[in-house]
Amino acid sequence: MKRRKFIQSALAGTAAFASTGAGLLLSGCGKGPLEQRKDLVNNAGAPFAAYPHDPVRAENFTNPLFIPGGEGPFGVLNVTDTPLTLKARPATFPILDGRASPFLLYETSDAGKSYQNPIFRIKRDSRFTATLQNGLNEPTIIHWHGLHLPANMDGHPNDTIAAGQNYPYAFTVTNRGGTYWYHSHADQLTAEQAYGGLASFFIVEDDDELQLARVLDLKFGETDLPLVIQDKRFNAAGELVYQPNPMERMMGYLGDIVLVNLTPNAYLEIGPRFYRFRCLNGSNARVYKLGFMRGKEQLAYQVIGTDGGLLDRPYPAKEVFLAPAERLDVLFDASQLRQGDTVFLKSLAFDPMELDGAMGGMGGMGGGMMGGRQRNNQMSQMDGNTRLANGLEFNLLKLVVAKAAQGPREVPARLSTLAPLDTAGVRPRRVTLSMGHMQWLINGQSFQRDTAAFEVLRAVEVWDIENATNSMIHPMHLHGFSFQVLGRSNSPAALRPLATASGGRVVTDLGWKDTVMIWPGETVRIAVDFRQAFPGAQLFLFHCHNLEHEDGNMMVNYRIPA
Ligand code: C2O
Ligand code: CU
Ligand code: CU
Repeated sequence: MKRRKFIQSALAGTAAFASTGAGLLLSGCGKGPLEQRKDLVNNAGAPFAAYPHDPVRAENFTNPLFIPGGEGPFGVLNVTDTPLTLKARPATFPILDGRASPFLLYETSDAGKSYQNPIFRIKRDSRFTATLQNGLNEPTIIHWHGLHLPANMDGHPNDTIAAGQNYPYAFTVTNRGGTYWYHSHADQLTAEQAYGGLASFFIVEDDDELQLARVLDLKFGETDLPLVIQDKRFNAAGELVYQPNPMERMMGYLGDIVLVNLTPNAYLEIGPRFYRFRCLNGSNARVYKLGFMRGKEQLAYQVIGTDGGLLDRPYPAKEVFLAPAERLDVLFDASQLRQGDTVFLKSLAFDPMELDGAMGGMGGMGGGMMGGRQRNNQMSQMDGNTRLANGLEFNLLKLVVAKAAQGPREVPARLSTLAPLDTAGVRPRRVTLSMGHMQWLINGQSFQRDTAAFEVLRAVEVWDIENATNSMIHPMHLHGFSFQVLGRSNSPAALRPLATASGGRVVTDLGWKDTVMIWPGETVRIAVDFRQAFPGAQLFLFHCHNLEHEDGNMMVNYRIPA
């Protein structure tokens, strides 16, 4: 097992943000002297005890949400024809109480401004040109998650470059407008590097997006906000920790401090109008069930987009599962609230069904089938050292109505056009997800760098992705192509009430997708149009986006023929 040293290497970096707006991140919640911080050390066995930054405790939410500006950390960089240089390097970043933590980031400058982990914003059909410089002490490569690109631009682990080397990217962004992202995809190091900081948004604009912004008077960075949701762990000094034990390498690494835009226990002052929240689950392994709560009252919101941009129309929802790498674009109507009202964006309780019924077969890992709270306690042991069990209810972001604001009150009836793929007469390809010898497998296989598990046709294909019964939620991600979800079968009780669309589909199945959540025992049918493939034979990935599963080789290549 590779034990990486990013903490040490990151300490060699410098505090880069003194002059670039990191002050915005200095939350200054000042919870007292350092000796109290020993609570921050992760302790198995006390999952329900309160701890500093515990997201279950509403009173902890006193830190202003970090909102990206026009430069500096996560600054919005409007992409032009000017080629960029993106340098991946170790640095530090203030996350807990303004104290510097080791962090990995992409640094660039453009038009006299400097950026760390820039949020790229680009118009559809324009060019993106950037050279990745590897300033880390280990190999890396960038993957543009959700973009339709030729294989050599996609950041395949085979293209991983060594420390000190460069990789040139130049491509046209043909995707629909929407909220995409980019992150490290280094061979066997994706989980640690993405967790360590190497990830940000990639936002594509098109006419439908501009139209929506106009009609609802939305401004990016004010009333249209990217929200990246992540759970992380910190040591007593408030430094990021990535130390998965063998169990966590198999199940996924869960944090116990929940960050929204890298802010722990964040709040945001809003006015009584519509807000657009572009939620990205940027966590390694945690699934969230997103709901807005005013006290005990669950407020409805409108889902307007998923992974590949806007839906055809808004879909009302009250709770939606969001798995790692998925995006959920929502309109939240704060005009239904009064001045002083407080609403929490929460992750609501659910049963994550981790290895249900499989315990007997897993020798010494637990005591058979369990239910309810007892099960959750047991499961938190399975989750490794986290104090925040998977499926527990906790808060993500506090919204306080504390501003005057006005805005249009009508949500447009149409948002964009979605054409269903014609799958008539297509025979589905069966793809299985299972476990063998304590390894997650796709079609019974582990990742083989240079060979393809299967070859697709340059045609519309239908895949039936079938998860084993004694399994976990696997967010399955396809590189190179967006797909449509046609239906779900054998969905678990946790999901069935949310299946409001045809074919047993939930709202995150609508529109164009690049990642789809597949529950234990479930089969999800998708359609992919490989006719749009670039010329020449190419290898692309299909993998689980639980990043520990990915680095644990729950990944295959598929081949597009010439
Ligand atoms: Cu977002 Cu292959 O990854
Ligand atoms: Cu991807
Ligand atoms: Cu998985």
